This record gives sequence, structure tokens and C-alpha cells, in this order.
Amino acid sequence: MIYNPEKKTILVTGGYGFIMSNLINMLNLNNYNSTIINVDKCGAGSNKANILPATNNNNIINIHLECENPKFIKILKEYKPDAIIHGAAESHVDRSITDPLGFVKGNVLGTSNVVHALDWYQKNIKPCKAVFVSTDEVYGHLGPNEEPWTEDSPIAPRSPYASSKAGADMIALSFYNTFKTDFCIVRGCNNFGPRQDTEKLIPKYITNLLNGEKMPVYGTGTNIREWVFVDDFCLFILDRLGSYSAGKVYNYGCGVSKNNLELLNEVFNCMEQFCKKRDCKLESKFKTFEDSLQYVEDRKGHDFRYAMRSNHIYGHQTEMSFRKRLMTTIEFYYNEYKQPKSAKKWFGFLR
Ligand SMILES: NC(=O)c1ccc[n+]([C@@H]2O[C@H](COP(=O)([O-])OP(=O)(O)OC[C@H]3O[C@@H](n4cnc5c(N)ncnc54)[C@H](O)[C@@H]3O)[C@@H](O)[C@H]2O)c1
Repeated sequence: MIYNPEKKTILVTGGYGFIMSNLINMLNLNNYNSTIINVDKCGAGSNKANILPATNNNNIINIHLECENPKFIKILKEYKPDAIIHGAAESHVDRSITDPLGFVKGNVLGTSNVVHALDWYQKNIKPCKAVFVSTDEVYGHLGPNEEPWTEDSPIAPRSPYASSKAGADMIALSFYNTFKTDFCIVRGCNNFGPRQDTEKLIPKYITNLLNGEKMPVYGTGTNIREWVFVDDFCLFILDRLGSYSAGKVYNYGCGVSKNNLELLNEVFNCMEQFCKKRDCKLESKFKTFEDSLQYVEDRKGHDFRYAMRSNHIYGHQTEMSFRKRLMTTIEFYYNEYKQPKSAKKWFGFLR
């Protein structure tokens, strides 16, 4: 049951980032008369232009703060949210390899402070529904023929990013166990779509193709991920916010599974199709898919495969909707690319 945001105050953390900005823009689409409080530290992955201006009698208030800041609780006291979606996190595995402690601070301490404040708020001010956003990466990695994880699979994270998210989940769940704090955890697979930072795989490849630059591919490019369109994951989060059992974990694995080369090949083909339609003449830069790639040394401790199954399936993407949504994603980055430099909101370095 999708959460009804009408006349509600919803606090979202990490709203300038990829997933949470798409969720805020979704809430802002209809005449809900809702107030959205975005708490974001404006760090890696964030972009203020990601949040569209408030419309339809909605109100958006942006607060520049780290979740681990003791002042976080003051925001709850002041704005009295009816619901919280905690999505703020350091999210890039490569960055977690160069700055593991930054991830522990932001993700473990940040989430600890949010759940601590939430518990106090629920007991002393008012009831408040809450979803904490997590990732499939907490389960570790799978071999090619192993069964997908379910919510009952043990967690066994391998990268500093995954471990910091697992630590955050464990601290949060300990609050449910000990204090009956009311929230659930949602674990998603890899998301794609508009507004994702160009450090991440799909936007990086699209923008490299637009700029005529080769795409670095880790190792042999055979690592496997599930890919969900960001709006589907946002709907799942709102669905869980509308009806969850406290202290539960809900997986969102979409069933669209691809290795990195298969994924990039699809992006390449969609780009060609898109460019033919728009006459952008990109074909001349790279004659073949292989031409556009540059194999580089593998990521340290690179997880081989992620795949999840849920006991609470919300919906599945078909290959056709995957390609359609890839086109939507390409269109977003292409529209930015063709803007004159002075009008670029997102990616000023795109030529
Ligand atoms: N992107 C994916 O494929 C994916 C998949 C599953 C789960 N997730 C989870 O979804 C959430 C959002 O991911 P994303 O890809 O949109 O990330 P992102 O990097 O695009 O955005 C993260 C946002 O959070 C903010 N932030 C980070 N740490 C903060 C802190 N301590 N206090 C306040 N703000 C902070 C950043 O400034 C940024 O705006 C994360 O919790 C991530 O672990 C992401």
C-alpha cells in the first residue's frame, strides 16, 4: 500500500542524491499539500539541481546537515514529521576503498544518530513511520550458480561501503530489538535513471560516449548485478512506508540481471538508436562497442555477483521496459549535454 503523503510532513535524508531526489520529485508531482524536509550534507553524489522546485501546493525545505550531527534531533522537534525516509549514505564503493573511515562515520554513525533520534521522537513527541534504505551488497557476493539471497540470508559484506551499510542496518535493528523503535529496512539492487552522479557506471558510460572518451572496464567486465529503474525502487520504498512490520527487512531484487559488458553493450546500442533519431553523429567516434572500452585493473575485492529475491515482491521489469527506461536515462544526460555551458545544471564538464 503506497504511503498517502496528503497533508503530511515527510523527512527525507540524502535528498540531493540520486535515489532520494527522484523520490522527492515523485512526491512533488501531485497536489498532496505535503511538506518535504530534506536533510543532506551536500557531499559526494549530491546536486541541488536534482530537486525540482515545489509545485502543486507542496512545500520543500532543504536543511544542510550531516545525519550524525547531534542537531538532527532538533529538526524532528521543530518540523514534527509524520514519516522519515533515511536514504543518506556515502554510496560509491570505489570511494569507500580510498576513504573507508569516512564511510564508517557517515553511514554507521549517521544511521545510529537517526535511529536514536527517531526512537526518542516516537516515544516523546508522536508516532512516525520510517524506512531505512539499504543495499543488496550487505549480503556479500554470490558465485554464478548460487541461489539469490532472501531476507533470511546471513549478511556477509565485503567492501568498506557494504560493511558500513551492514553496520548501519545492525545498529538500527538493535534499536528495534531493544527499544521497539518503529521502522523497517529496505534493501535494493543497483538503481539506474536520471540524476545519478556521473561517477557511477551507467551515467559514466553515457557521458563518456557523449564526450568521445573510452570507458574504463574493471577486470574482464563479467561481474553481475541486478538493475532496477529508480522510479520502481522509489515506489517500493513508498509502498513499504505505507505498510510494514516494524523491525523487518524487505529485499527489492528486480530480476533483470546483467554482467557489466552486457549492460554496457545495451547502453551502447540504445545510444546508437537514440543518436540516429536525434542525428547526434556519435557513431563516428567509436565504430564498434569494443572500441569504446578500455580494460583496466580489477577493483580491489570486487564482488562477483549480486542477486536477491523477496518474500514481498512488488513487481518485475521486463527486458523491454528496461530498454525503454535506459532510453529515458540517456535522454536526461543528452539534454544536459546539448545545453550551452552557461545553462548546464548538472554536469558542467560535459562538452
Ligand atoms: N544507487 C544504488 O544503486 C543503490 C542501490 C541500493 C541501495 N542504495 C542506497 O540508497 C541510498 C541512496 O543512494 P544514492 O545512490 O542515491 O546515493 P547518492 O550518493 O547519489 O546520494 C547520497 C546523498 O546522501 C548525502 N549524504 C551522504 N552521507 C550523508 C550524511 N552522513 N548526512 C547527510 N547527508 C548525507 C549526500 O550528500 C548525497 O546527496 C543509500 O542509502 C544507498 O546505500 C543505493
